[in-house]
Amino acid sequence: MKYFNIAIDGPAGAGKSTIARKAAGLLGFVYVDTGAMYRAMALHVLREGIDPANEAAVSRACGQADVSIRYQDGAQQVLLNGENVSGLIRTEEVGKTASAVSAYMPVREKLTELQKKLAASENVIMDGRDIGTCVLPQAPAKIYLTASVEVRAQRRFKELAEKGTDCDLEEIKRDIADRDWKDMHREHAPLKQAEDAVVVDSSQMTIDQVVEAILAVAREKGLKTAAAAQPAASEA
Ligand code: DC
Repeated sequence: MKYFNIAIDGPAGAGKSTIARKAAGLLGFVYVDTGAMYRAMALHVLREGIDPANEAAVSRACGQADVSIRYQDGAQQVLLNGENVSGLIRTEEVGKTASAVSAYMPVREKLTELQKKLAASENVIMDGRDIGTCVLPQAPAKIYLTASVEVRAQRRFKELAEKGTDCDLEEIKRDIADRDWKDMHREHAPLKQAEDAVVVDSSQMTIDQVVEAILAVAREKGLKTAAAAQPAASEA
């Protein structure tokens, strides 16, 4: 493999995107958020007024939709039929719909192909649900990033409260557990730990500690860059 790929999988709200973005910045890698691609497809389905439970209609609509990504000042932007929809895909409704449409094989095949192409042309840190198991099974460094439902719900609650959004902790917990179940029990490419993935439970860790754990896995798996070098403190 010409490029070094780091795969990060895990349930919703485990902090994958924050961690992956930070680690990618340190390593000079491209960060690929695959959830954003499924979310763009979900937005398309919602806009078309299609019932997410209608597999045939969703698959047809997604087959015709064009999802691509580009980078603006280092940040991933997701385009739906040429429109930058990055600011429209972070709602709970889009997240839930993304979980539903991502269960369908035609949707997965289309996006998996795009993801494989990206990883074949860059050093990437890619996060999602099936990166280590299906999209990049040959990636040298794989991390399964998780955290308890309680901790993930509290983080989400804090995030929403800071934005001034009214929310209920118990409802958030239920939504997270429900999304975990759906992502882990679907027929195609369910969320699961790849056999060769290193599990990192971020429940009691700071962002910097998790980033360091990921860089440590990459180092162990042979990545050699200045940023991946052993931190000074641990050399002493
Ligand atoms: O990571 P996220 O919350 O943005 O992902 C939204 C949904 O997309 C998630 O519930 C399942 C789906 N998804 C997937 O099936 N495979 C991926 N590689 C990434 C996301």
